[in-house]
Amino acid sequence: MILGIVQTDPVFGDIIGNQIQVERLLGNHKADLWVLPELALTGYETRGRAESLELSEELPHGPSAKWLHQLCRDRNCHMIMGLIEREGDKVYNGSVFIGPDGMVGRYRKVHLFDKEVTRFDPGDIPFNVYDIGVARVGIMICFDWRFPEVMRTLALRGGQIVAHPSNLVLPYCQAAMVTRCFENNVFAATANRIGTEERDDRSVSFTGRSVIVGTQGELLASAAVDATDVLLVDIDPTRADIKTINPYNDTFGTRRAEFYEI
Ligand code: ACM
Repeated sequence: MILGIVQTDPVFGDIIGNQIQVERLLGNHKADLWVLPELALTGYETRGRAESLELSEELPHGPSAKWLHQLCRDRNCHMIMGLIEREGDKVYNGSVFIGPDGMVGRYRKVHLFDKEVTRFDPGDIPFNVYDIGVARVGIMICFDWRFPEVMRTLALRGGQIVAHPSNLVLPYCQAAMVTRCFENNVFAATANRIGTEERDDRSVSFTGRSVIVGTQGELLASAAVDATDVLLVDIDPTRADIKTINPYNDTFGTRRAEFYEI
């Protein structure tokens, strides 16, 4: 299957312009599964919870999800994209997983980073793995990478690919993903953004260098640090089912979970 990433340079609040940018970058490229950045159409730095709510939508019928569904139908593919999800009086830094037949799943960021704590409610649904036929896919968002339990949980639940919509502001994650993939023998696609957001007295820059990493920690593709980009890699997801280290050791079988209790 072809795994793709779109690395974007969104403008805060310009939903339509950001959609056009994604469509332009997708062009005629073909992939079975595309991963787009965190908060891909809204931008990152909301002024607080009220602005997060203004830019939020309900799933599965919100405007960004509808737009993404149309793309999936037109291109006969699956896509995972970060967006602001609202449910009742809660507002989440979320991701939606959509295919040609509609919504497959969703995720709500569990580990909120820095001021996100003042803008969103923490995620409240499990680290689910979704089987889309060509692969079993789990989702985490940006700062979740910093907690190795996340990818471990997704891998233990059978995930072959970890889709990782991101708006990275620090330079450490891309290198860490090599270890995360190696220690779990899974593929990962970290879809980051570039550019700077200036909002009020804060200026936040994003670190680009989106990466696709293989089950042995191989860097299969990486994007530019300061330009929009598209990454495409032909992978065999079943390689993630091979957890053998040597005839005596297995990534999961050799775990001694009874010794990990605190
Ligand atoms: C981040 O979690 N967006 C840094």
